[in-house]
Amino acid sequence: MSDSSTGFRLINTSVLSYQIVVPSTAVLFVGDILKLVDHDKNFIFYSKVTDILHETASGAFSAEPHLVVNLHPLGLVDGEGRFRPPITAPTTFSEVSRPDQADLDFLKRSMGDMEVGLMRAGLGVLEGVTVSIPSEVLSSHMGIFATTGMGKSNFMKVFCASAMRRRQFGLLIIDPHGEYVTGYRVKGRRVKGLIEYTAAHDGLSVYSTRPPEEREHFGLKELRLEHDDFRMGDLGFLYELSLPLVEVVESLDNLPGSDVIDFFVNEGVDSLPSPLKTTSGIGRHPEITDTLRNYSLGPLHMTQRRVETLVEENRAFFHRFGSSIPAILNDLRQNKVVLIDIPGMSERGELFALASMTRSILHTHKTHTISAEGMGNRQVVIAIEEAQRVLANANQSTQVFRECAMEGRKFGVGLCLITQQPKNIDPRILAQLNTYVVMGLSDQLDRNIVAGNAKQNLTSMNTEIQTLARGDAIISIQGSPFPVSTRIHLFEDYIDRLNAAS
Ligand SMILES: Nc1ncnc2c1ncn2[C@@H]1O[C@H](COP(=O)(O)OP(=O)(O)OP(=O)(O)O)[C@@H](O)[C@H]1O
Ligand SMILES: [Mg+2]
Repeated sequence: MSDSSTGFRLINTSVLSYQIVVPSTAVLFVGDILKLVDHDKNFIFYSKVTDILHETASGAFSAEPHLVVNLHPLGLVDGEGRFRPPITAPTTFSEVSRPDQADLDFLKRSMGDMEVGLMRAGLGVLEGVTVSIPSEVLSSHMGIFATTGMGKSNFMKVFCASAMRRRQFGLLIIDPHGEYVTGYRVKGRRVKGLIEYTAAHDGLSVYSTRPPEEREHFGLKELRLEHDDFRMGDLGFLYELSLPLVEVVESLDNLPGSDVIDFFVNEGVDSLPSPLKTTSGIGRHPEITDTLRNYSLGPLHMTQRRVETLVEENRAFFHRFGSSIPAILNDLRQNKVVLIDIPGMSERGELFALASMTRSILHTHKTHTISAEGMGNRQVVIAIEEAQRVLANANQSTQVFRECAMEGRKFGVGLCLITQQPKNIDPRILAQLNTYVVMGLSDQLDRNIVAGNAKQNLTSMNTEIQTLARGDAIISIQGSPFPVSTRIHLFEDYIDRLNAAS
């Protein structure tokens, strides 16, 4: 590639930006990485193309037509091969060229074990320069940002495949559209599912609401939740509650779900004794009776209807006894990918399942962390699709998810937030995410929010973010040298390669 950079000449440098001129025939793209070798200081500077301009007042550089290219400094590699932040500037005598695979070894050394794609260069990729996310950083949370159709689901499947392959942490992911397990057909093309990664099928455990024959055919387990997996507080984010209802709901939040459901569904609020009677509660749930007899009947009836609807709507997997959660926790402990497959379930059902599983995971990890044996290196990552639904601004956030975001790291519980609308996520939550996977975002406000909140400031990459094609991402990992432009593997190609190699 070296001759493709003949005639590149550095004309302006400062610590914060460089400018070069190149022949107007040079094929350069925003996001390309260039290397500046400063022979005087024995430093190699790396920089990224941020803008390409036609200069009209040309005579200053040469009579030939040329382009002026703005570069953003990424860092420098010193005489000992260490990567450092760009706190000095290269001299204008530095030699400008394109890096090759060997040059980028320093980058590979800081990459992790969760392969997701290849480093992008121009319109293609740098073959051999794999981009991977280190699994150790995942309990410090990750965010995946992309407008619809830009490749979120494909990314998540690639990520799941790498998790199945490496088995470094447990990964819980809920699939409300039935697209992850078996795949589907679109425009004559087959989009593959996770069960087709046969070489690592031990790393996958699927809990499903599909009919028994279908479950058996694909080797899926039955998904069940039991009444005790429910907490009254769940109603708070599944429904918009008025203030009187919030009071009723909160007063029962610490009681077992099975008691609350039995009371509302079988005994009913009409069985409550009048508040004037001095006799204490009657029926099977005296504690509930005592708590509720002071509320007026209107809100109680409405609460009852909500509980009844919840039980009714989720009857496909929500039963009195028999919960999959202990088995799910066990699978996660074995560092499997646990996929909750609930095609056709209502959004409320999905959120209810997600909340009760998250609560159990957080509780287990907390209990173990403070107990004598501790959690060791145990890590679980919980993926949340359309995360703005549960982590919007402070007062609308759901307690259990907020708690994971704020404190999960201490207990080895990481979140993977997937969203098309980063602007609708509480900025304090965004600030907790250490890894950013930024894909095409059509909304400017969304782009600005993502660029400004990432641990590595991405604002200089604004033009690049704006021009990201489907399947392309900028991956920013705290502690890595710089944000890396990545072409995410297409899931089908990735698992074909892995299956063939095994
Ligand atoms: N890394 C990639 N390489 C090649 N093609 C890709 C890549 N990622 C996605 N695509 C293509 O784009 C299509 C849409 O991708 P995907 O379903 O992952 O988008 P999405 O962001 O999840 O969309 P939605 O918001 O509708 O869920 C895929 O079917 C695939 O053909
Ligand atoms: Mg999708």
